[in-house]
Amino acid sequence: MSDENINENEEVSEAQIAVHWKEEEYFDPNPKFIEQANLKDDEILKRMGEDNFPDGFEEYAEMLDWDKKWDQVLDASNPPFFKWFVGGKLNASYNCVDRNLAKYKNKTALHFVPEPEDEPITHMTYQELYNKVNEFAAVLRDYCGLKAGDTVTLHMPMVPELPITMLACARLGVIHSQVFSGFSGKACADRIVDAKSKYLITMDSYYRGGTLIDHKEKADIACNQAAKEGFEVDKVLIWQRYPGKYSAETPMVEGRDVFVNDILKDYKFAKVDPVSLDANDTLFLMYTSGTTGKPKGAQHSIGGYMAYVTGTSKYIQDIHPEDVYWCMADIGWITGHSYIVYGPLALGASSVIFEGVPTHPDAGRPWRVAQELNVNIFHTSPTAIRALRRVGSDEPAKYDYHFKHMTTVGEPIEPNVWRWYYHTVGKDEAVIVDTWWQTETGGFLCSTLPAIHKMKPGSAGPGVPGIYPEILDDDGKPLPRGSNKAGNIVIKNPWPGRMLTIWGDDERFVDQYYKRYNTKPDSKDWRDWPYFAGDGAVEAPDGYFRILGRIDDVINVAGHRLGTKELESAALMVDEVGEAAVVPVPDPIKGVKPHVFVSLKPGFEATEALAQKVTDMLASEIGPIAKPGKVWIVPDMPKTRSGKIMRRVLGAIAAGKDPGDVTTLANPQIVEEIRKQS
Ligand code: WT7
Repeated sequence: MSDENINENEEVSEAQIAVHWKEEEYFDPNPKFIEQANLKDDEILKRMGEDNFPDGFEEYAEMLDWDKKWDQVLDASNPPFFKWFVGGKLNASYNCVDRNLAKYKNKTALHFVPEPEDEPITHMTYQELYNKVNEFAAVLRDYCGLKAGDTVTLHMPMVPELPITMLACARLGVIHSQVFSGFSGKACADRIVDAKSKYLITMDSYYRGGTLIDHKEKADIACNQAAKEGFEVDKVLIWQRYPGKYSAETPMVEGRDVFVNDILKDYKFAKVDPVSLDANDTLFLMYTSGTTGKPKGAQHSIGGYMAYVTGTSKYIQDIHPEDVYWCMADIGWITGHSYIVYGPLALGASSVIFEGVPTHPDAGRPWRVAQELNVNIFHTSPTAIRALRRVGSDEPAKYDYHFKHMTTVGEPIEPNVWRWYYHTVGKDEAVIVDTWWQTETGGFLCSTLPAIHKMKPGSAGPGVPGIYPEILDDDGKPLPRGSNKAGNIVIKNPWPGRMLTIWGDDERFVDQYYKRYNTKPDSKDWRDWPYFAGDGAVEAPDGYFRILGRIDDVINVAGHRLGTKELESAALMVDEVGEAAVVPVPDPIKGVKPHVFVSLKPGFEATEALAQKVTDMLASEIGPIAKPGKVWIVPDMPKTRSGKIMRRVLGAIAAGKDPGDVTTLANPQIVEEIRKQS
């Protein structure tokens, strides 16, 4: 919950806050945008209306090339394990690469923008992408012996070799599990072990904030840690940031580590036929944080997922093949999978891959890239927008670029920040879509249709075509439509982009997303299985949903989900720490930042160095994005009489607010003691 309006007073309930929430003014889409839009009229809402469910989704599937057409649109006989386009066969790599050759072989598929500005931007055509995907697929198949259904873990930075690797896997039906490159070796190990990947594919180094980072180091940490957990990685394939040259200090491990560049020489111009796969086979895993410590692998399908991201890329992102599309997210997150790689390439667009930090070397960088490549669709997060606004609010005006369309995604955006995005970045020309969705959902759930709906700052909008959201109260009763009352947002119906399950844990899948509101566990009717997203939301009278934030123990830092439990368990790895509690605290740039409260084991003293040790542990265990805003070393935690740590009280103190009535605590005096530390 990053909007300053939301947390003003801890005492009022979410519902009351929603009522106090000021309505924002509407903005009309630019007529020039409407004229060229893929979706100009609202017939779609009928075609994909509830009356035409599930057949309306065939429109998305028809945007793909199928080896064999599906026999059944939706098999809902075993809820909530829904299957889409059953009987259909296709290949995702074919749909993103091969089928574009006929018309676009000489057109750029990927623009690569290296972080150092003196390194030229490179452009890879669809023909070149086709060659490279085939060659690397041959490596995976013939050198590694990988086949459909096997898993590999990728720990790759933002370089074109990442989509090449993903598409080569997809060509064979090998399930890729890309771990965000900013994650630590340890975090990578957990995901390797869970996915049981015998192969790790990584890169020697990459640029971040002006430094060439030794990334191969993390592969060693990952493999050693996996071994400790009883799992051996057979081989580590290492791409080189500068092909032919090793740019890391960490030595290669004999027998385990190999340079991709060396093996590729034997596969020059190799061709690998795309394997024809079932629509409900698995394309990839994407791990995300949940309420318990262990990250869960969202398992995405080939047919339903590809159909959904292609359809939404076309209608919500308004991607045409002629567009230069830049999504500044990282491919290591779902946004990058769906809306840098699979969706845009399936539509034959030119997709930009940016290696670096948006504000490096200065806040004009993104706008120089936009000018140089003539980018016309831009997609980023509120965190990036806030950062660019803070350090360079006048920068966009200095550059000659023009966006027709912009996206904000990942967290609620403050209306003021939205207006800066609209007026200054979009130059009053671009439409904005605020897309609400999740790793698990594959693609967008709520958004305005860019040429059809008015925009409203701070609101995601109605459900996108085919998606029927509703707000339920704690007892599962729907709140009156448009009541502006807060409750839990659910999606009433299945949709093709939703994950198949949690990798290896069907039970957790059901528990996490369906148990909350399913009252008839034996029901075979999908209507009894609303999807529980875990977000609080309100619906305004115009049918626009405004997302309030997570209702579980998940902290959304800069649009990335971190589980409080994960952070707490990392803090507890510091020897001196006895207890740890993590709370989200509003932050002007990141939306929220975690604050870590630790109490020490007896005999240890609170020092600066110890606080630093906790910070370092979070960074090394999880990654730099987990770095806390502050580490508080406290004499004791405020606790209930049953011994539960009162995170709510800590959260109020950290945010400089009144913790309210604390007299019922087991140790009320501690509250004042902690407060003195702020
Ligand atoms: C959580 C999902 C969606 C891909 C990137 C993050 C929050 C997402 C919005 C939005 C308000 C949003 C929700 C959601 N969220 N988009 N437009 N407005 N909140 O994916 O890591 O799976 O996180 O991000 O809380 O549940 P994720």
